[in-house]
Amino acid sequence: MSDAGTPPTRRSVLAVAAGSCACLGALGPLGAFGAGLVPRVRYEPPLRRKVGRPSEVAEGLTFRADLGVFLVRKETSFRALSAVCTHLGCTVSQEGEGFHCPCHGSAFAADGRNVAGPAPRPLPWRPLSLAADGALIVDLGAEVGPEAVLTVTEGA
Ligand code: FES
Repeated sequence: MSDAGTPPTRRSVLAVAAGSCACLGALGPLGAFGAGLVPRVRYEPPLRRKVGRPSEVAEGLTFRADLGVFLVRKETSFRALSAVCTHLGCTVSQEGEGFHCPCHGSAFAADGRNVAGPAPRPLPWRPLSLAADGALIVDLGAEVGPEAVLTVTEGA
């Protein structure tokens, strides 16, 4: 470095520039190392969610927007059908005997089969189970066939 009042030499300017480049070059890997120390955890709601007590589920079809499922109750039998379109994930709505997706017009039969539109697969059925406290639990991360039924005789 130069003293105050004397102009910097070419050598000192080049030395400062080289030192700055070396420092900046070291920051990149250091930043990547620091990013690796922070855990990449996604905090999402659990996929097994309580639906409520069987007695709270109405006979027939009940749409649960908070879960993205239709609960299907027939007396003491319970099932859960996903309301998420298998095309691009829009929420389907009940229409006639089946379901209709408002986004691109896919249509699904009452058993979830895709019958029209671009949807490549049927709506998936979700397994239901009973919690220890008697509440229905739907597993939004699993799939069962349309014939899978949970029968609840007490408290329904
Ligand atoms: S998202 Fe349902 S048809 Fe495209």
